[in-house]
Amino acid sequence: MKIQSCLYLIIALIFSTPAFADDKAAIGVQTYKAACAMCHASGVANAPKVGDKNVWKPLIEEGQVILTAHGYVGVRAMPPKGGKPDLSVEHFAEAVNYMVNNSGGQWSSPDKGMLEDIHEEIKKRKNTK
Ligand code: HEC
Repeated sequence: MKIQSCLYLIIALIFSTPAFADDKAAIGVQTYKAACAMCHASGVANAPKVGDKNVWKPLIEEGQVILTAHGYVGVRAMPPKGGKPDLSVEHFAEAVNYMVNNSGGQWSSPDKGMLEDIHEEIKKRKNTK
């Protein structure tokens, strides 16, 4: 009986983990399409165009925490939160992750610890703006 419940747990874990990752990827694509593609698909106002590896390389080198946080607060012609006042940090971060992974980078969905760092960096950035 014990072995059986143990097996169920393992099976449940195997099936739940990828589904969780898929959900996050779906949020990234959806957010990108709804809030970012209008500028980042074609490069409106010099927005870094998704797929242009040369443009993204130096941005990717800034690191996931910094790039996500600074984008969220807004950079020059990049509107804060992509112009959507109710866009959460978590959803914004998934959209950035999606854009980077389609522009030569290899990032993962930010985990809890990284999201905390992103929130911290957003606070710092807001104080210096
Ligand atoms: C109205 C057009 C517009 C929309 C909508 C928009 N962006 Fe941008 N974004 C820009 C522009 C322009 C820049 C370049 C800013 C600069 O460096 O001058 C930029 C830059 C960025 C950067 C790089 C920031 C940096 O530190 O240089 C990130 C990351 C980013 N956008 C993410 C997003 C995400 C994610 C969304 C959707 C949630 C989004 N943007 C929506 C125009 C837009």
